[in-house]
Amino acid sequence: MLSQTFLAGLGLFAVSASAQSLLSVLQNNGHTEFARLLQEEGAVIESVPGARLIVFAPPDVAISRNGDAIVARQTEGNQTKRALYNYAKETAPDLRRQTAKECAVWAYETLFSDPELVNLGPGRNQTIVQKDVGSAAVGVVFTGLGDSVKVTSSDIPFAGGVVRPIAGTLTLPRNLSATLPFLNVDRFEAALQRTGLLTQLDAKAKITVLAPPDSVFAKNASSLPDDQLAETLKRHILVNVAAYTPLLPDGAVFQTLGGTNVTVSLRGNEVYIGGALIVSGDAIITNGVVHTIDKFLPGSVTTPPPPLVTGAAAALRPMNLFSFALPVIMAVVGGCIL
Ligand SMILES: *[C@@H]1O[C@H](CO)[C@@H](O)[C@H](O)[C@H]1NC(C)=O
Ligand SMILES: *[C@@H]1O[C@H](CO)[C@@H](O)[C@H](O)[C@H]1NC(C)=O
Ligand SMILES: *[C@@H]1O[C@H](CO)[C@@H](O)[C@H](O)[C@H]1NC(C)=O
Ligand SMILES: *[C@@H]1O[C@H](CO)[C@@H](O)[C@H](O)[C@H]1NC(C)=O
Ligand SMILES: *[C@@H]1O[C@H](CO)[C@@H](O)[C@H](O)[C@H]1NC(C)=O
Repeated sequence: MLSQTFLAGLGLFAVSASAQSLLSVLQNNGHTEFARLLQEEGAVIESVPGARLIVFAPPDVAISRNGDAIVARQTEGNQTKRALYNYAKETAPDLRRQTAKECAVWAYETLFSDPELVNLGPGRNQTIVQKDVGSAAVGVVFTGLGDSVKVTSSDIPFAGGVVRPIAGTLTLPRNLSATLPFLNVDRFEAALQRTGLLTQLDAKAKITVLAPPDSVFAKNASSLPDDQLAETLKRHILVNVAAYTPLLPDGAVFQTLGGTNVTVSLRGNEVYIGGALIVSGDAIITNGVVHTIDKFLPGSVTTPPPPLVTGAAAALRPMNLFSFALPVIMAVVGGCIL
């Protein structure tokens, strides 16, 4: 009789396992509640053309804790097929690089396309970011309202892709106004409100917000007249780009709403933009992403980032940020970024 190891070696187990439907894989692996909710929402998707699926699956206990909410803190608005946010399209295998010493980060396009909660330009669905974090390279998934959730075990294949078990529910991205209160950037938020910028930004199709937390928000900035304050704030907004950290190549230059340019610098496991360190990246919003940074961005010339060059820059695959053929991956050598 053939041993399981031998069969596995031939790939027979993989074939038989991956021939199963999504629903049966979920039901057989402790995701019964999630399977039930997918059915309830009419959101069972067994496959998509041209891509393999990654289905982020919370455990039963996480769903029971949240009652009937697949998505934590997602209680308002039209939640039609909110579970589509749990379906990501898999990165092409040749773009996926992950070794003991390399930590990888991905931006995945999902199947979530509700126009009330996705405003990323024509045909663009909402995004999920996943990063390897710490020396153990545990995958962490970054979602709305600055929430994140850990990947808990290896992918489980089904016919149309893989189920990726996660520790809790995903949070659907909301607009900038709804998200800032969760990010400890009250002064920045108040200043955006006072200058009328916040409403304008909520309406734009693609933005990246570099938010200085209260601890570094220049205390004297609030005493500036409105027009000067607005100019200062605009230097913290990148327009026409949703610059999730996995999509940031070393040396990329972005124009801000204030007309200044900021340059991306990768320094080992750290990402700098306009000379400021991204301290907490990838809070996903309806129309882009918010990164909190460690300082106020200066008015004129970009501050040079700290002088340390590692293999990270060399390891990067050049990519065109504006083509946005998601999903895209970047590998960072050394520790893993958060
Ligand atoms: C929710 O959105 C879906 C599709 O976007 C639409 O068909 C449905 O009528 C909406 N429901 C409500 C209550 O607005
Ligand atoms: C966006 O999601 C919808 C399902 O809501 C799917 O049919 C479509 O293919 C997705 N688009 C892209 C570009 O992934
Ligand atoms: C932003 O989201 C909040 C909460 O969901 C909503 O009340 C508000 O109308 C939205 N604002 C804009 C400008 O879309
Ligand atoms: C705010 O304070 C900093 C230093 O603390 C100073 O360089 C800057 O000019 C001040 N700005 C205003 C508008 O007072
Ligand atoms: C910003 O960069 C663009 C393109 O590289 C360049 O045309 C523009 O002059 C720069 N603007 C400033 C203020 O440096």
